[in-house]
Parts: sequence; structure tokens; C-alpha cells
Amino acid sequence: KTEEESARIRAAVKANFLFAYLNEAQLRRVLDAMVRRDVAAGEVVIRQGDPGDYFYICESGDYSVTVSPGDNQPAVEVISYAAQGGSNPCFGELALMHNKPRSATVTCVSAGSLWAIDRRSFRAILMKSSSHQLTRTLRSVEVLRSLSLNQL
Ligand code: CMP
Repeated sequence: KTEEESARIRAAVKANFLFAYLNEAQLRRVLDAMVRRDVAAGEVVIRQGDPGDYFYICESGDYSVTVSPGDNQPAVEVISYAAQGGSNPCFGELALMHNKPRSATVTCVSAGSLWAIDRRSFRAILMKSSSHQLTRTLRSVEVLRSLSLNQL
């Protein structure tokens, strides 16, 4: 990572609700584990039903989150995310935190790049943080995701 990239990703991670309660040492571990993934328009980043491998923070691009209610059922858009002007949306935490298959499909709508942290590092840092930090993090996830779930 270049120095400029490192500064950008540090700001994005610090502002992310999942990592808000981490201390400096934990934050540095997250940053060390993050790798960049460039995505093209139309590319499926996460497929509903797959096992979870990475958690993503968007650096740029537009993304659509869709849920298919069942076999042969049309997918419904739940929410769309645009990374712009210092806003860095994120996705892919649910499967990693709860050890469940991916709850939705995430497709890149216009090309961009993502920062990805692998399942093992994500869980080692976040799920093994202090119970106080973890409880607050889990509560933030529930609140934020339920806002859009309510619109289903
Ligand atoms: P995960 O289940 O790992 O993979 C799909 C991701 O889409 C999921 O994690 C969330 O990050 C995101 N996602 C799924 N459902 C919603 C929702 N209702 N609102 C916002 N984001 C969602």
C-alpha cells in the first residue's frame, strides 16, 4: 500500500461502525490485514448463500444489495451503496460475525475498488475484542442493518 492509500484506508476504517470501539493496536491489525480489490461494473462481489470469506469497505464505486426470497424468485433490491465524498459504506459482516451463509447478493453497479479483510483476521480482531467492545459493535450492526431490513 502506498502512504496515501494507507492514510485513506485508515480514515475509512476508523469511521466504520464495526471498528469504532477498537483500540489503536487492534486498528493497526485491521489495516495490516486489508487488501485492495478492484471491481468492474456487473461483477458480483458477494453471492447470496455462499460461505462468507471477506468483509468489504468501499473506497469507490456503486453497489447494489439484492435478496432473493427463494428458488426462482426474483431478487429484490434492499439497499444501494455509493462510495463518495469521504463516505465509505461497507458490507459482508453478517456471514462472518454469525457464521452463516451470505444473506444477500452484492453486485458492483459502477466500477470501483474495495478494501477487503479476510474472515480469519476479521474474527480474530473483532470477535475476540473485549466483551464490552463486542457488545457495542454487535448492537451497532443490528441497529444499522435493521433500518434497511424494515423496508423489505
Ligand atoms: P453478508 O450476509 O455477509 O453478505 C451480504 C451482505 O449484504 C450482508 O452481510 C450485509 O452486509 C449486506 N446486507 C444484507 N442485508 C442487508 C440489509 N437489509 N440492509 C443492509 N445491508 C444488508
